[in-house]
Amino acid sequence: MSDTTSVNDLTEDQAQAELQRLALLISKANQAYHSADDPEISDAEYDSLKRRNLEIELRFPHLKLSDSPTLMVGAPAADGFQKIEHSLPMLSLGNAFDAEDVRDFDSSIHKYLGLKEGAALDYTAEPKIDGLSLSLRYEEGVLVHAATRGDGRVGEDVTANARTVKDIPERLKNAPDILEVRGEIYMSHADFEALNEAQANAQKKIFANPRNAAAGSLRQLDSNITASRPLRFFAYAWGQVSEPLATLQSAAIARLSDFGFSTNPLTKVCKTPDELIAHYQDIEAQRATLGYDIDGVVYKVNDLALQNRLGFRSTTPRWAIAHKFPAELAWTRLEAIDIQVGRTGALSPVARLLPVTVGGVVVSNATLHNEDYIAGLASNGDEIRNGKDIRIGDWVQVYRAGDVIPKVADVDLSKRPSDSEAFEFPKLCPECQSNAIREPGDAVRRCSGGLICPAQIVERLKHFVSRAAFDIDGLGSKQVEQFFEDGWVKDPADIFTLRDRFGSGLQQLQNREGWGEKSANKLFDAIDAKRSISLDRLIFALGIRHVGEGTASLLARHYGSWSAFETAVTNAVIDDPEDEAWSDLLAIDGVGRVMATSLVTAFQQPAERASIDRLVSLLDIKDITRPDAEGSPVAGKTVVFTGTLEKMTRAEAKARAEALGAKVSGSVSARTDLLVAGPGAGSKAKKATELGVETIDEDGWLALIESL
Ligand code: IVH
Repeated sequence: MSDTTSVNDLTEDQAQAELQRLALLISKANQAYHSADDPEISDAEYDSLKRRNLEIELRFPHLKLSDSPTLMVGAPAADGFQKIEHSLPMLSLGNAFDAEDVRDFDSSIHKYLGLKEGAALDYTAEPKIDGLSLSLRYEEGVLVHAATRGDGRVGEDVTANARTVKDIPERLKNAPDILEVRGEIYMSHADFEALNEAQANAQKKIFANPRNAAAGSLRQLDSNITASRPLRFFAYAWGQVSEPLATLQSAAIARLSDFGFSTNPLTKVCKTPDELIAHYQDIEAQRATLGYDIDGVVYKVNDLALQNRLGFRSTTPRWAIAHKFPAELAWTRLEAIDIQVGRTGALSPVARLLPVTVGGVVVSNATLHNEDYIAGLASNGDEIRNGKDIRIGDWVQVYRAGDVIPKVADVDLSKRPSDSEAFEFPKLCPECQSNAIREPGDAVRRCSGGLICPAQIVERLKHFVSRAAFDIDGLGSKQVEQFFEDGWVKDPADIFTLRDRFGSGLQQLQNREGWGEKSANKLFDAIDAKRSISLDRLIFALGIRHVGEGTASLLARHYGSWSAFETAVTNAVIDDPEDEAWSDLLAIDGVGRVMATSLVTAFQQPAERASIDRLVSLLDIKDITRPDAEGSPVAGKTVVFTGTLEKMTRAEAKARAEALGAKVSGSVSARTDLLVAGPGAGSKAKKATELGVETIDEDGWLALIESL
């Protein structure tokens, strides 16, 4: 039997023999590849053996050998994907929307690095592919796993599916021992059209756009389906590497290309913001004929040593930015305005639209932001849209940019019905009828019902179980909503007593549609698994106004443990500069007065506090110790910088100290561990001497941290 017989034509006996033959060939090839310098077969041949083996296994799953070559890593669990923790987080990018943003990006980098305005600084510029990101881990040149981005920290194991993608090599030659290649999975326009046609013929789901088709195809539990979908991959970044790939971004990308990855041919090195913008325009002009979707151009600092110095904000690198293409627009009729109540009580107007296609996606809802926006006013009272208000029955212009919620941009007064009336924004909460109040300086009207408002409770619960918060498998928005309606969960803590309350009687949950004993027990197990939670996630999950994911992580890193955090915010006296807890909170870089007030108020408000205490008593909260701060001489220390720094800017010094696990404070107190004083240090140096705080100069600081 030749190895070109189509897998679909193989009989069961032939398949069995073929699997054995392939297993032998692959294992021999693996050995030759690792032990000898001279592999016996080419990479392409090897890949095709692996792919054929996989295809046969997918067609005859019961014939899969116990030592099958596809078993090198865990296959997906039958009922979902296994999780993979990224060795380095997969981040997102900040956005630029116009040339001015691009120039600001360039000057902020100059400033951060202490370079003179206009000093030479190279960037790469390349298309931003509109697909989904994937991280591929190679060990000793062999693909060991593939993970989706997930929440950036933990993704889904889609290894078996990634192996079916032709652009993803199974083995790499001369690659570092550990190499994580990152890039984008996407589908070409032509393949997307053909897929949808085939789907339509088979009366199967039609995909809204190539991105959804790519995502749906990669996240298939059955790799057979993925294998049948024409997915492609562009490599543009990397995660963990056991040795540097190069010293320049452009050279690193060239190496990825040498390893056999597709890299984007429109990648270019540019020397100035003007060149970046020119290349952006060039790419934009080719957008319609590229054959795949892109949604902007990504700029990256070319020098990897500078990238390293620039480092990261909480979720985005300082050394890169995405320059987005303008959003796509469409006109349609506004049929109704609904008011939704969010977890902090905000009343948000939502436009219900006559469905319209915007950039390949059918849009029937869009945000209207707040009452001022409907009235034609910006939050500072200035007019927007020349003061035109928005009314039910109007023709409105809708736009969407990337993944964000569609928005209403404009209104066509010439089409306004003569009997239309200005929209009256409700003064009562539509969910609980409490007064909806607008505080001075707040752009939104809020329900004053607090924890008596069912909408607020449900939204808090949804937030609590969301992906960046507790992320409990099998307990999403739909389920918490149901549990709330049933009266089973009114408060986050109730989630953690579900098993006690219903576990023995299971009956009640089982009797509900969609639940059986197995799924109920699985849910209880998934809940138990999240009793142990990291401090940053917990703080974020509490859903306190102004405390987003980034702030929660800053707070967690600053206080380290729940008890330190809780003591500080319980005792802080709002707006009292003499109060240590308050000034310590405000001294955290990234924490402002509004956020600090909101946080402290939440902890000092009895009902809210009782809810938090009840929750915490059911959890095991993990302290935050920064992994990269291991062995750091400044981990956990409070450091103050003062005077002029000559070898780095203040921002860089601060970011670097924080990355090493130090807390950076703006003022010297008895709790300061170290003062780094440059020339011109004044009162802070004096105070440090009085308090006996250790003081070193900039070189001393560099020597200290570089001894790492
Ligand atoms: S670089 C640390 N380059 O855009 C930054 N990202 O909005 C790593 N994306 O999650 C990303 N094309 O999925 C980079 N040429 C490109 C990209 C690109 C598409 C995606 C990627 C990322 C998202 C951020």
